[in-house]
Amino acid sequence: MSNKSKLLAGVMLAAFGFSAPALAQVKEVQMLHWWTSGGEAAALNVLKGDLAKQGYAWKDVPVAGGGGDAAMTALKAMVAAGNNPTASQMLGYTVLDYAAAGKMGDLTETAKKEGWDKSVPLALQKFAVYNGKWVAAPVNVHSVNWLWINKAVLEKIGGKVPTNFDELIALLAKAKAAGVVGLAQGGQPWQEATMFDSVVLSTGGADFYKKAFNDLDPAALKSDTMKKAFDNLAKLRDYTDPNYAGRDWNLATAMVIKGDALVQVMGDWAKGEFVAAKKVAGTDFLCPRFPGTQGSVVYNSDMFGMFAVPADRKDAQIALATATLSKSFQSAFNVVKGSVPARTDVPDTDFDACGKAGMKDLAEANAKGTLFGSLAQGYGAPPAVANAYKDVVTKFFHGEIKTSESAVAELSKAIDGAK
Ligand code: GAL
Repeated sequence: MSNKSKLLAGVMLAAFGFSAPALAQVKEVQMLHWWTSGGEAAALNVLKGDLAKQGYAWKDVPVAGGGGDAAMTALKAMVAAGNNPTASQMLGYTVLDYAAAGKMGDLTETAKKEGWDKSVPLALQKFAVYNGKWVAAPVNVHSVNWLWINKAVLEKIGGKVPTNFDELIALLAKAKAAGVVGLAQGGQPWQEATMFDSVVLSTGGADFYKKAFNDLDPAALKSDTMKKAFDNLAKLRDYTDPNYAGRDWNLATAMVIKGDALVQVMGDWAKGEFVAAKKVAGTDFLCPRFPGTQGSVVYNSDMFGMFAVPADRKDAQIALATATLSKSFQSAFNVVKGSVPARTDVPDTDFDACGKAGMKDLAEANAKGTLFGSLAQGYGAPPAVANAYKDVVTKFFHGEIKTSESAVAELSKAIDGAK
């Protein structure tokens, strides 16, 4: 085009309001995640449905494995090969790592338009915003310090809900004496570490948890209190069944759902399995806080990390982010998932008794400073530290590290090395 005709085209555009043809947008969302259990898949369907209504196709990249360790390995390979997904399920510090490496997109404009800085709690913004830019959309808030109890089994053995650690052990012993598996345990590193988060909080209290697992204070990590926490973990091990090694978390939940075991210690994604099995909170199952941790919440939050994508995939990413943080989605999704909303302005009307308690606990813990990031679930410290932690806890649980003394020594050495 000559300069003159360019000028003419410009004049015509200005005069008639024509604009350059919009870039043809790819109407597809590609999502990497580890939501492959019944409850998780049901929750994800809520999102797929929302996006389908807007005409977006869903390209699923599921990587099975609770806790997401396998998914994060797959994500690393995809990103290294230059195949960034539209978004990936991610936990806390991992989002920040990818942002620091310059791999994330920028959703700040959408965030401004939607007012995310006012509706998303600051504890989550710390991980969704990097250098002033929104790089992730928080989907939910989960917490790990819960017990999931089969109510009929509890009644059958004549037990009551434990309020402190000793009562929990006494209850498990009662189950064992009655010939029932006390603790439904999944023997994988991330599950044992997730349970240990609760044990440490129960053993040492709120300040201790924060010092050890958020501040990584060397004295706390090496303390007698930490040794006692390992002693307590060993006590729990006495009440698993012999086949726990390697068991997936949702199969452990299924043991409680079916009445083959009394209780599971797990994050509230376990509730998603009860819901998927049409079990009712308060009637079929109970959800007290892990005894000795009442008043504190150890949280994680699933985030959709938004990757840098080609311009023709940006609209789909914005649609995904907007749908994720809409109030109606936050309610509908989290009711199914077992988690609670990542916004503070969603009514609890549609949530069951456990969900309502979860929302109340979260608000209270946030207000009084007893809301802590889960070390096992990517919110206590960066991934290298979390992995070192999982490694030591699992070696102890499976008897490779034999005593609490050596577990404490190994833990502080491993964390020191990973910091
Ligand atoms: C957690 C995640 C939950 C749930 C769980 C088990 O890391 O935050 O959403 O999926 O793993 O897979």
